[in-house]
Amino acid sequence: MATAMEDYKSVLASAKDLPTLPNVVLRLHSLIRDPNSGAAEIAEVINRDVALTSKTLRLVNSAFYGFAQRVDSVAHAIVIMGMNKVKSLVLTASVLDTFKNRGFESFDYAGFWEHAIGTGITAEALAKHLKSNVTEDAFVAGLLHDLGKLIFCQYFPEDHAKVMHLINEQQLTVSQAENQLLGFDHTLIGSWLAEKWKFPEELCLSIRMHHEPAHARVHRDRIWLVHAADVFTRALGIGNGGDPFVPERHRQVWDHFQLNATLVDTVFQQALDGMANAGEFLELLKN
Ligand SMILES: [Fe+2]
Ligand SMILES: [Fe+2]
Repeated sequence: MATAMEDYKSVLASAKDLPTLPNVVLRLHSLIRDPNSGAAEIAEVINRDVALTSKTLRLVNSAFYGFAQRVDSVAHAIVIMGMNKVKSLVLTASVLDTFKNRGFESFDYAGFWEHAIGTGITAEALAKHLKSNVTEDAFVAGLLHDLGKLIFCQYFPEDHAKVMHLINEQQLTVSQAENQLLGFDHTLIGSWLAEKWKFPEELCLSIRMHHEPAHARVHRDRIWLVHAADVFTRALGIGNGGDPFVPERHRQVWDHFQLNATLVDTVFQQALDGMANAGEFLELLKN
């Protein structure tokens, strides 16, 4: 007998309207890893997608980054922000564009994206404080961590309704309710889509393991960063995570990062300041 996960995979594999990302994103993943590719080549690849370039530049010039002068080309953005950061913004712009106007009944779409963007901002702020080497990718890893929730409610609305019911009835988290109903949760669906999009392994794993960070064997820092940022964002009440609870925080992660009260306060403040300037990210979901 097919398991629920196999049923889900076959529905998703045959879904004609499954979100796809532009080719430029795929190309960027491999280009950035290639030591022989330079900034000019990367700028050229991005520039080929005119719409995506303009959306990326909207983010670069938003209040969130607060540059004194207008940045009007990808080449200029790479000079001031670095290649990895620009790649991360291209990916962010393409994901927000892919999901724009995909609101569903009974799903708090704006709240979902506020939580996602908040987790991205918090992950980046935390990475900077921890002097982590994953700083540039931290935003995207946070942004996408709950991707599975979006896919879940769009393609499996009946199960989604049952999950919502379980959350209210039994005071469960989204993850607990999904596991109880299906034996897996949104982390598996999200990482499945990320693999389909050919995202780098570390990004797939931070989506897959953000609720079970203790099981991480590789890319541990990134997975733990996303776990902590998710908890922070929920604790701050930014956006809507789908249930009224702050996810369980794993002691091991707090000890490893030495997350003391002073650091937590500083990152909290930066997350709130970041959200106050993140309007353009949410605008990309509308037009
Ligand atoms: Fe989650
Ligand atoms: Fe989350």
